[in-house]
Amino acid sequence: MFHAPTGSKRCGNSDSRNRAARSDQTRTGQGMTLKDTAIKVRLNAHAPYSNFKVGAAIRAASGAIFAGCNVENVSYPEGTCAEAGAIAAMVAAGETELTEVYVIADSPMPVSPCGGCRQRLAEFGAGEVRVTMATTGGAEQVATLGELLPGAFNTDHMADR
Ligand code: THU
Repeated sequence: MFHAPTGSKRCGNSDSRNRAARSDQTRTGQGMTLKDTAIKVRLNAHAPYSNFKVGAAIRAASGAIFAGCNVENVSYPEGTCAEAGAIAAMVAAGETELTEVYVIADSPMPVSPCGGCRQRLAEFGAGEVRVTMATTGGAEQVATLGELLPGAFNTDHMADR
């Protein structure tokens, strides 16, 4: 199931292809890679109940990177995932398309976005978007958003409304 996709169908121009190819080597104006951003923001996670800190970094269509960490609450269902935080930061900054995702946790195997976050990511990312799942120990797995959420519910299902 997991593989390293080569590009994006939806973002098919040469600029975006180059951006995808540079992948995690790309540096932002702040000098941070997608991976470094996720590693750093994870340290800010508020996870006193699960003791499971997660960091997420999202590259938006402009190339800007947005970060998020999980923020738990004593009323457990009110907690939010790292991916949700990164998406909120991206949308608050005025961007609505994501082109790459990196998620990291101190887990025995690369951390897998929860079902709800797969749907959240699919709201703003094409099926070809590359999602890297990682451990703090250095393991990585890559999948596309389409592979993580096959048969996603989308606006096609609400046609003629
Ligand atoms: N969590 C995330 O932030 N992202 C994921 O992809 C998986 C789970 C958080 C939610 C909760 O704060 C903790 O990890 C344990 O489930």
